[in-house]
Amino acid sequence: MQNKTMTIKQKLLQELEYYFGSDAKRISHARKVMGYVEELLKLEKADWRIVIPASILHDVGIKAAEEKYGSAAGHYQETEGPPIARAILLKVGFKKEDIDEICQIIAHHHSPGKINTRNFKVLYDADWLVNLKDEVDVKDKEKSSAILDKIFLTETGKKIARRKYLSKLNAD
Ligand SMILES: [Fe+2]
Repeated sequence: MQNKTMTIKQKLLQELEYYFGSDAKRISHARKVMGYVEELLKLEKADWRIVIPASILHDVGIKAAEEKYGSAAGHYQETEGPPIARAILLKVGFKKEDIDEICQIIAHHHSPGKINTRNFKVLYDADWLVNLKDEVDVKDKEKSSAILDKIFLTETGKKIARRKYLSKLNAD
């Protein structure tokens, strides 16, 4: 099973690299989100067959959004991403049911509250763990703690975020 996971992961990463070409920033972001998904999966009950592919492909709509609309805004990514992800997942050999769920997560990954599955929550938190430093000013410890509680949807996501972003403040 482990080997199969590795193979799927490697195939999807290869497809992503092929799709994004020289855009190393996007590939590196997807790899980081995938890393956090793997960390979250140690404690959160979610399905790796859904969340690992979702992490690798979640931002795949950015390129088409920028080309079509000149914007990487979340809602453009959410509409442009799923058909591209679907084509890649079909090529790699995923079954329709899993493709549907992965694409549904990608279609809402900037809009929490619409899908409340554990798989969605794990992908959402992993993306925020990577993006947090660029989106939220975490200088005020008390304020930051409240913000983290609001943003993250899983307990493990909150714990990792506190450890990563508030531990330096705790030391002061
Ligand atoms: Fe992302």
